[in-house]
Amino acid sequence: MRPAPMRVVSGIQPTGNLHLGNYLGAIRNWVRMQDEMEDGAQCLFFLADLHAISQPHDPAELKRGTLEMAAALVACGIDPNRSILFNQAQVPAHAELQWLLAGTARMGWLNRMTQWKDKAGKNREGQSVALFTYPVLQAADVLLYQASHVPVGEDQKQHLELARDIAQKFNNDFGETFTLPEPIVPPQAARIMSLRDGSAKMSKSDASDMARINLADDADLVMQKVKKAKTDPEPLPSEVAGLADRAEALNLVTIYAALANESADAVLARFGGQGFGAFKPALGELLVETLRPISTRFTELLDDREALDAILAKGAARAREIGRPTLDAAYAALGLIR
Ligand code: TYM
Repeated sequence: MRPAPMRVVSGIQPTGNLHLGNYLGAIRNWVRMQDEMEDGAQCLFFLADLHAISQPHDPAELKRGTLEMAAALVACGIDPNRSILFNQAQVPAHAELQWLLAGTARMGWLNRMTQWKDKAGKNREGQSVALFTYPVLQAADVLLYQASHVPVGEDQKQHLELARDIAQKFNNDFGETFTLPEPIVPPQAARIMSLRDGSAKMSKSDASDMARINLADDADLVMQKVKKAKTDPEPLPSEVAGLADRAEALNLVTIYAALANESADAVLARFGGQGFGAFKPALGELLVETLRPISTRFTELLDDREALDAILAKGAARAREIGRPTLDAAYAALGLIR
């Protein structure tokens, strides 16, 4: 039997800016997978606007953020003619399938999700129901399209494992309906850390903008953020093993290596023995060079609201079509008459 063609599916929340962690951890892999697609394979990339309402939000900002994130993804190389780019809210099947899967997902499974624990903190009772059931919607996002591969950063791996558990239990209980999706995590840039704290991931929810590099930051700001990034007084070692207890230094070397498509050891073979006074400007310049074409394109795209609306409408129409047979199968498997 011929193996089924690859179906790549992934999403990003359209809140805040697209930052370097998203780019190196996920989006760059989206673009690579799109560019290497074989005949019959398909890539679906979406803005997780339904996920974004699981936490307090400003509706006007969500709208603006959704368009900005669409522009940012196209600027990074997602080609709306080759990939299917859309926002969840235009494809009601995501929300529908979430409910159909909610009968299969277990409270205990959701209670173990580290993102839920981190975001809820000590105030679980005060959180929205949506924040708790968030991973069920995420499972629906990928199962709806029979995703075979899901490119994500390390922090989303647990949610993908949950999606597999849900799919497996549903298939066992109601008959073979869903493909088990495989997470694809980039080995070198799985987890990009904050520039201010090497033990926290780079995140759009960090209160300090100095903690992250946004893809739309201008050259001066990028250089300034790199210069101010937390480090230590030691020179760089010549092998990555020497960075074991130096989280901030390791993070900067990881970023450099990912941008230059080199191993961390190859970077250290060049910079070993030198201090951050030499390394930081080199990293800053590499960042500026990488981001320049992206931010130029981003600014141009943002000016054309009609084009962005058209891209999302076209993508959503395709997504609705591709998702329909699986949604129908899930309703039927559960014995729901429609
Ligand atoms: P989100 O919006 O937080 O992040 C989007 C992608 O970027 C990756 N990422 C990182 N990778 C490395 N280092 C970092 N510091 C870093 N920060 C973020 C994330 O792993 C992710 O791949 N729940 C998801 C969105 C989502 C989704 C899905 C993803 C909704 N449905 C279905 C995959 C499949 C989220 O909030 O990602």
